[in-house]
Amino acid sequence: MNKLISLTVFATTLGLLSCSHTPQEEPLAKVIERGLTVSTEQALLMAKELEPQEGRLPKSIKDGQLETSDCYWWCSGFFPGELWYLYENNPTPELKRYAELFTERLEKVQYVTSNHDVGFMLYCSYGNGYRLTKNPAYKEVLTTGANSLSTRFRPAVGAIRSWEFNKDKWQYPVIIDNMMNLELLTWASKETGDNRFRDIAVSHADKTIANHFRPDYSSYHVVSYDTITGVPHAKVTHQGYADSSAWARGQSWALYGYTMMARETGKPEYLTQAKQIARFLMNHPHMPADKVPYWDYDAPDIPNAPRDASAAAIMASALIELSQLDRSEEASGYLEFAEDQIRSLTSPTYLAEKGTNCDFVLMHSTGHLPGNSEVDVPLSYADYYYVEALMRLKKLMK
Ligand code: GLY
Repeated sequence: MNKLISLTVFATTLGLLSCSHTPQEEPLAKVIERGLTVSTEQALLMAKELEPQEGRLPKSIKDGQLETSDCYWWCSGFFPGELWYLYENNPTPELKRYAELFTERLEKVQYVTSNHDVGFMLYCSYGNGYRLTKNPAYKEVLTTGANSLSTRFRPAVGAIRSWEFNKDKWQYPVIIDNMMNLELLTWASKETGDNRFRDIAVSHADKTIANHFRPDYSSYHVVSYDTITGVPHAKVTHQGYADSSAWARGQSWALYGYTMMARETGKPEYLTQAKQIARFLMNHPHMPADKVPYWDYDAPDIPNAPRDASAAAIMASALIELSQLDRSEEASGYLEFAEDQIRSLTSPTYLAEKGTNCDFVLMHSTGHLPGNSEVDVPLSYADYYYVEALMRLKKLMK
């Protein structure tokens, strides 16, 4: 019976991927190839530019110029991770050399214990590198990194502490983005056999379901916990429009985080949570026609508010995976929505022409609008999740 359901879902998936659009539309396989070709061209131009700049990694565009960071910026792992996906797609010695070069710029990150971002940084770079090469040195870095991240877990709270700043306002801030860092821990449990890592990830995900979500399944950005009682004392925003608003990227992190945790643990409550978040986002009255969200679903100046292509790329990648985990009739809708997002991102409105956009792939993301930082710019994580989504779709079509 299960086999029958699986076959039906698989057949529906294939049908959707090949037939859901009008004959005049570019076939999805061509859209994917075009996206991957442009991404490869841009990534190689970026790699060549940054190769001589010791330790630097791409971040965004500022004042019309490429903005870079050192390895300690939270986004440092995205460009090496993108290079690994592009190498997986087209395994040339040049892509491998650059993927290794930029990955190894993050080696010191394995010792970072001062914030939660070590999961993003190492799992996208070393994690993809290890998945594709099985290089034992990469496993060492990832395992040390998982230990470093685990030091930020406090049993009395049951969650990993995200940040150290704003200590006068927040006793123990946990941000929805932190869900993304749990994959490093579930990986470490499988690789080392030490269940402590998985237990921390599950505790964090459970605590976040209990406290981050509103009745409509939108998420707060920051929940700060009382360090003694483990009860939230503040539910606020840092990068969104308002404490009560739905900051677009935070909602995408939530969707991706619970989809990933459903895959990693098989726990039905995580799948249910991901589906509820997907329903909230896909049916949101402020979701634009091209399905690339405004930077906050409650921004007061919609429809003139800046978009966030990174929120669309993260959401598309998550929905593709969700369509494969869910066995209900909703699964095909997730895939169809993601396909629309990928078609939009691969259009001239968002996809850069070769040699433009300071060699980033996508235009029109928003990093931190209330901080007047990174508004309507390219961002390295928009490119990473876009390429990941393209690869996920390409594998499905095979
Ligand atoms: N994790 C920080 C952000 O999404 O901007």
